[in-house]
Amino acid sequence: MCGIVGYVGPRPVTDVLVPGLAHLEYRGYDSAGVALNTGTSFDLIKTAGRIADLEALVDAEDHSNALSGIGHTRWATHGAPNTVNAHPHTDEAGDVVVVHNGIIENWADLKKKLVESGHEFISDTDTEVVAHMVADRADMTLRDAVTDIMNQAEGALALAVMRKSEPDLIIGARRGSPLVVGRGDGENFLASDIPAFLEHTREMVIIEDDRVVEVRPESVRLFDLEGNELEPEHRKIDWDFEAAEKGGYPTFMLKEIHEQPHAIADTLAGRLSETGRVVLNDLDLDPVLLRSIDKVFVIACGTSYHAAMMAKYAIERWTRLPVEIDIASEFRYRDPVLDDRSLVIGISQSGETIDTLAAVRYAKAQGAKLIGVSNVIDSALARESHAVLYTRAGLEIGVAATKTFTTQLVAMQLLGLYLAQVRGTLDPGAIELLVRELEQLPEQVATALESSAAIEELTRGWADVRDYFFLGRSGDFPVAMEGALKLKEIAYVRAEGYAAGEMKHGPIALIEEGVVVVGVATDTHVQAKTLSNMEEMKARGGTIVLVAEEDDDVGEVADHVIRVPSASDLICTVTAVIPLQLLSYHVATARGLDVDKPRNLAKTVTVE
Ligand code: M6R
Repeated sequence: MCGIVGYVGPRPVTDVLVPGLAHLEYRGYDSAGVALNTGTSFDLIKTAGRIADLEALVDAEDHSNALSGIGHTRWATHGAPNTVNAHPHTDEAGDVVVVHNGIIENWADLKKKLVESGHEFISDTDTEVVAHMVADRADMTLRDAVTDIMNQAEGALALAVMRKSEPDLIIGARRGSPLVVGRGDGENFLASDIPAFLEHTREMVIIEDDRVVEVRPESVRLFDLEGNELEPEHRKIDWDFEAAEKGGYPTFMLKEIHEQPHAIADTLAGRLSETGRVVLNDLDLDPVLLRSIDKVFVIACGTSYHAAMMAKYAIERWTRLPVEIDIASEFRYRDPVLDDRSLVIGISQSGETIDTLAAVRYAKAQGAKLIGVSNVIDSALARESHAVLYTRAGLEIGVAATKTFTTQLVAMQLLGLYLAQVRGTLDPGAIELLVRELEQLPEQVATALESSAAIEELTRGWADVRDYFFLGRSGDFPVAMEGALKLKEIAYVRAEGYAAGEMKHGPIALIEEGVVVVGVATDTHVQAKTLSNMEEMKARGGTIVLVAEEDDDVGEVADHVIRVPSASDLICTVTAVIPLQLLSYHVATARGLDVDKPRNLAKTVTVE
C-alpha cells in the first residue's frame, strides 16, 4: 500500500497534489513527497512523517512556477521510513522522477546491473531502480521507456513517471496495484484511488493490469505492453467521499477482507523460487545458527496468537523441533526455560503491542535468538528483533484483524518451510509440493471470497442468536479460535472457540436448541473425528454450519456447508478462515454494529 497522485493542468500544482495525498493517507503515512516540474528542473520536497509535515514544507516556499507534478504517500516495504527512502525518487542527474506502489520482486537483480553500469543509488528502495532505468532510456519516448521497464519488472506495481523536459506529460503504468485517471477539462489526474481527485472531477478512466497510460492536459491515451493503443473505458463516479475512501465498500473491514488475495500475493512475492524453494533473503539470520536451535517459542496476542497456534503445527510437523506457544502477557510469569539455542518468534501485526514486546525482550535477555513477524516496517518489534519477516498486507484500518491474519499464516508457513529447508528435515520434493500450493493461495482466497453473498443470506436471521461455538481439530483449531474471536469482537455475542474433541469434557452442556455450532473440517487427517463431534452437537439441538473443502464428502451432519478450495492441511487454514471472517462481518452488520470501530477495543494495544 502506498498512494500515488499526479496532475497536469492549469491549477496551482501543489493545491492538487497535497490535498490529493491527504485523501490517500489511509494507504500509508510513514513518509511523503512531491516532485514539481518547472520545465527546467524538479523541485523535490520529501519528508518522513505525515502529509501535514509535507504540507508545512511545501507551504514554506513559493511553487507558483510549477507546471505539473507527482506525489506519494508511503507505506514502507523496502527500506526504513525516512526522508531518503520517501518518494519521489530520481536519477543522478535529476532528469527523471518516479513514484511507485507495490513491490518490484526482481529489484535486486535490476539494481545489480545498474550498479555495474555505474549508477549510484542513494535509497534502500526497490523504486529507485525505475528512475535509473528511465534515465538509461533517454533515446526512447517516456512511454516506450516505461513500457520496456514494465516488461522487465516482476511483481505487482503501479508507477507514475515524469521527465523534466516534458512537463505536460505523466506516464502511468499498472500491474496488480491500483491506478486510475481522473478526467478534467484541460487538465487530468492520475491516482492510486478515486478520493485523490474526487473534489475536482467525477469522470474517470479505468486502467487495467499491464497497461501504460499517457496523461496530458488535453488527452489520456492507453496502451498495452506491446505498444498497441487501446480504447479507454470511461466511468462516472457517483460515490461520496467516505464511500470513495473505502473503495466503494461500505466498511474498511469488508474492503480489507477483499484485499486478501493481493495481500497474500505481496507477502509471497519474491519468496518462492521457480525451483520450488523458499527464499527468505530478507531474513538476515545465519543458517548455521538456525541449525543450532533446539527449541522454538512463538509468542503473540489476540489474532496473532492464532497465527502462532498454526505455526506450532507447521514448525513441529516440518522441522521436528519442539515448539511452545504463549499468550504474550503470560509468557514472563511462567518462568520459561530459555537459552542461546532457543529461537523465539514474536508475531505482531502492529509490532507495537506492549505485551508482545515485553515478552520478547525478556526472552532476548535470556540469550534467545529473536525473529519478529510484523506488518509495519521498522516497528518496535522489528527494531528489537535479530531478524524480521515482514507480512505485506498493507495498512489495516478496521480494528478487527483480517488481511494481517491471513498474511501472518502465510509468513509462518514460509518460515516453517524455510527452517525445514535449512535444517534438512523435509526432502526437496515435499517442500516443492507445498511451495506450489502456496503459489495457489491468492487465487484460492479469491474463490473463497465468492461465498460472501451466500453467507450473508445464511446469517440473515441470526441477529438475535446469542451463543455460538467454533470447533476444529489440528490446523482447523486455530481457525475456529479466530472465527470465535472475530465474532465476539465485532458482533458482541458469546462465541467460544474450542478444540472439537474437548467439547465432551464439559462445554457440550451448553449446547441446546438455538446455539449455532460452526465446525471447521478441512484438515483431512482429523476430518472424520471432527464430523463425529459435530454429530454430537447436532444431537443436542445445535444448528450446524460446516466449513469444508470443495471435494470432500461431509455426509449429512450439517444444516449448511460452506465450501473452500482444496489444499494441504495447514496451508488450507488460509482459505478456511475466510468464510468465518465473512460470517462475523454479516452477523455484526445484521445487528447494526460499527464493525470498523468495535466498542472497547483499540487497533494497537500499548498498555499491559
Ligand atoms: O498488533 P498485534 O498483532 O500485536 O495485535 C494483537 C491483538 O491486539 C490483535 O490481534 C487483536 O486481537 C485484534 N483486534 C484482533 O482482531
